[in-house]
Amino acid sequence: MSDLPSDLLRVDGLGRRYGDLAALDGVDLRVAPGDRLGLIGPNGAGKSTLLNLIAGSLRPTAGRIRFDGRDVTRLGPARRARLGVGRTHQHPAVWSSLPALDNVLVAGRRPWGRLRAGGRERARELLAEVGLAGVERTAAGALSHGQRRQLELAMALAGEPRLLLLDEPAAGLAPPEVELLASLLAALPRTVAILLVEHHLDLVYGFADRITVLHSGRHVHTGTVPETRSSPEVAAAYAGVAP
Ligand SMILES: Nc1ncnc2c1ncn2[C@@H]1O[C@H](COP(=O)(O)OP(=O)(O)OP(=O)(O)O)[C@@H](O)[C@H]1O
Ligand SMILES: [Mg+2]
Repeated sequence: MSDLPSDLLRVDGLGRRYGDLAALDGVDLRVAPGDRLGLIGPNGAGKSTLLNLIAGSLRPTAGRIRFDGRDVTRLGPARRARLGVGRTHQHPAVWSSLPALDNVLVAGRRPWGRLRAGGRERARELLAEVGLAGVERTAAGALSHGQRRQLELAMALAGEPRLLLLDEPAAGLAPPEVELLASLLAALPRTVAILLVEHHLDLVYGFADRITVLHSGRHVHTGTVPETRSSPEVAAAYAGVAP
């Protein structure tokens, strides 16, 4: 693949093996600043593996990752977060006993966070931006599953990432909550590029500029939404699987 100077994220030949299983196999990926990239594929395709490799919580067994022109392949997750890689998890990671506001404050005061003086006000704004105004003092553990997902998004945004990795933010949400999530994601500024892993295809198709499809650890397609909808490779990847 060509090396565009404008690439924010550049992944080359990335692979991760578990014994004989290639969870991810020789994947290339490019994300430009402000890009909205959807990442889809059937269960076990390697989507979370790819996100974890980019975030640095998992080490690759092959390939290279560059972020903002710098080789980050060997950097740990905290170093990458400090450079501007933010994430949410397939299972929301919040501090249950802390109020929602404190979750955002603590997240924003981590070494890579940007909430310092005046942090409380910014944390309130972030909660409002993700639709959580009014529950600032509610313990995260008492929030609904959907609200915990919104909270995790605010926590990720507190680090002011330039790349945000979202792993199935719509999982377990009721239809009205998915609609709310779609509008929250659409309202995020283009100062942050977003890599969205999701099984909810309507959400991805409504959100992304481009879609990448993985299947059995391999890259099978990257294209616009119309190209993806009509791609025979994508249909084959989902054959026998209700997408
Ligand atoms: N720690 C591990 N040990 C062994 N195999 C693993 C491990 N983590 C993931 N795998 C395997 O790697 C493959 C890719 O898993 P991954 O979680 O990346 O898929 P996914 O596309 O995120 O799937 P889903 O849509 O179900 O979340 C699967 O076959 C999975 O069973
Ligand atoms: Mg996954």
